[in-house]
Amino acid sequence: MKKLAAGNWKMNGNRAALAEVAALLAAHPAPACEMLLCPPTTLLSQMAALAAGSALQVGGQDCHPKASGAHTGDISAVMLADAGASHVILGHSERRADHGESDALVLAKTEAAIAAGLIAVVCLGETEAQRDAGDTLAVIGAQLDGSVPATATSANLVLAYEPVWAIGTGRTPTLAQIAEVHAFLRARLTAHIGAEAAKTRLLYGGSVKPSNAAEIFAVPDVDGALVGGASLKAADFGAIVAALAAA
Ligand code: PGA
Repeated sequence: MKKLAAGNWKMNGNRAALAEVAALLAAHPAPACEMLLCPPTTLLSQMAALAAGSALQVGGQDCHPKASGAHTGDISAVMLADAGASHVILGHSERRADHGESDALVLAKTEAAIAAGLIAVVCLGETEAQRDAGDTLAVIGAQLDGSVPATATSANLVLAYEPVWAIGTGRTPTLAQIAEVHAFLRARLTAHIGAEAAKTRLLYGGSVKPSNAAEIFAVPDVDGALVGGASLKAADFGAIVAALAAA
């Protein structure tokens, strides 16, 4: 499978930030890995237009489970696809925390995304208290079972392991801890969706940066990264893309 370097701009970036996309494409016109950026929805169409015909794919950061209707402020998966998105991030820990998103809601959103022809990037991860209590694998396993449709395939699903305590903190798990979780995810996903799990990309996310990317990408069952802060600057994200392409 081709590995995936995915960037999550979160609630960052205005039109001027699109200059970073142009710089990224100029520096990495044809990387040996897939490249995805998920900007705020306000920039989605413009970024998709910039990326048209290039190696860069564009995605949303959330969607509503319904295709349309009276849901003020929400965006549907159909609308993301119409705006040029190929992917959508779902169940990010910031949404689980800020908006109280449950596994059942993430499952409904994932089903909607897949029905709209998008690739769902479903996020899972333990809090620091859960890791300290020795509950990491139980928490992640339950999130996977509850958030991922049993009918998902490697063509419409990407999983991202993002320890909550590693997001935006500069702290990362040890390589052995990442390896343990990713091996567990591969096995649990196989139990959940079957043989497709072998081809499904498993991303690591949480304080990935140019200086730690190569060692993380060498960990077995790490098929790419979901990058927050370091995806905002073309030079940093480009260095991560290069490390993944070389892995
Ligand atoms: P970070 O965020 O790279 O800034 O830690 C990762 C994420 O939340 O996807």
